[in-house]
Amino acid sequence: MKKQNKTILAVIYCLCILFLCACAKEQREADDKAQVGVAYYNKSDTFLNQLIDRLKEQFDRLSAKDIEITVTIRDAAGSQRTQDDQVKELLDAGCDVLCVNLVDRADPSEIIDLARERDVPIIFFNREPVAEDMMQWDKLYYVGADARQSGLMQGELAADYIRQNKKADRNKDGKIQYVVLEGEAGHQDAIIRTEHAIAALKSKGIKLEKLSCRIANWNRAQAQNRMMQMISQHKNSIELVLANNDDMALGALDAYKKLNVTEAVLPVFFGIDGTDIGLKAVEEKQLAATVYNDKEGQAAAIAELAVSLVFKKGMDNIQFTKEKYIYLPYFKVTSENVKTFY
Ligand code: GAL
Ligand code: CA
Repeated sequence: MKKQNKTILAVIYCLCILFLCACAKEQREADDKAQVGVAYYNKSDTFLNQLIDRLKEQFDRLSAKDIEITVTIRDAAGSQRTQDDQVKELLDAGCDVLCVNLVDRADPSEIIDLARERDVPIIFFNREPVAEDMMQWDKLYYVGADARQSGLMQGELAADYIRQNKKADRNKDGKIQYVVLEGEAGHQDAIIRTEHAIAALKSKGIKLEKLSCRIANWNRAQAQNRMMQMISQHKNSIELVLANNDDMALGALDAYKKLNVTEAVLPVFFGIDGTDIGLKAVEEKQLAATVYNDKEGQAAAIAELAVSLVFKKGMDNIQFTKEKYIYLPYFKVTSENVKTFY
């Protein structure tokens, strides 16, 4: 009888162990998987496209270790309503975390409500929601860069160039006649970059005369068009072109190329971003300089934060500003150091 009892107990014990192992395995398998939803504002934006490519690489890198990450990417083609629908679809498909590059940075409420209903955290990136919206919920984060820094760096680079190249003041009136090509109205990287670039130039003692400022929405073709208008208005008097990004600086250069002007009347061009094409233009000295918008750093920060949020570990190792923000630094790029950015 005793022996029989022992056998029954042993069998029950074994069954329990098998059951627990099965549970643990199931748990681990489920825990090792993450579904990431990425929504971005427009695939026709050069910098964003390169940032999204880097982001995919980062998730692949993390996925190759001991976790399985599935990434679904949606392009809103410039419509906030489309993006709201896309986010809803991503959530319905069961995504565990959202990475959102808003179309309209002032209009994230719909997306925040949808995510909060399902308790899915959001990492906004590149297009920064206003501070009040970031306070709507404690599972909202932002990864980007400080617009002021990029503007200051662009202004410093331009000031250094003007000091070292006396010919920059072509009409020798002691002032630099300049025009600005600005990004989208209302974007945190547009007006702030312009203001700080001008402030830096002035603080370095450069006398300036503003001729014109046009919005070209980060876009090369629009910038070419706006530059054509400014050239027809100001003829050969433009000495400096400050553009809020590389694509617009290159668009401005396109306008001069189209007009087939001689080297002697060409102004100097400054961009921001260090996109592949922007870096090449700096290397070839078509752009005098640019400021590196660290897409690799931003992509790595987004991916790491996303994984930490899903698996609820590693959050302590992440350095936040005001508990929600991660800002990656910019870097100055000239023809001297451009090779280190490829
Ligand atoms: C900026 C970048 C621009 C454009 C914009 C889109 O940070 O410099 O080129 O991509 O973001 O939001
Ligand atoms: Ca001048």
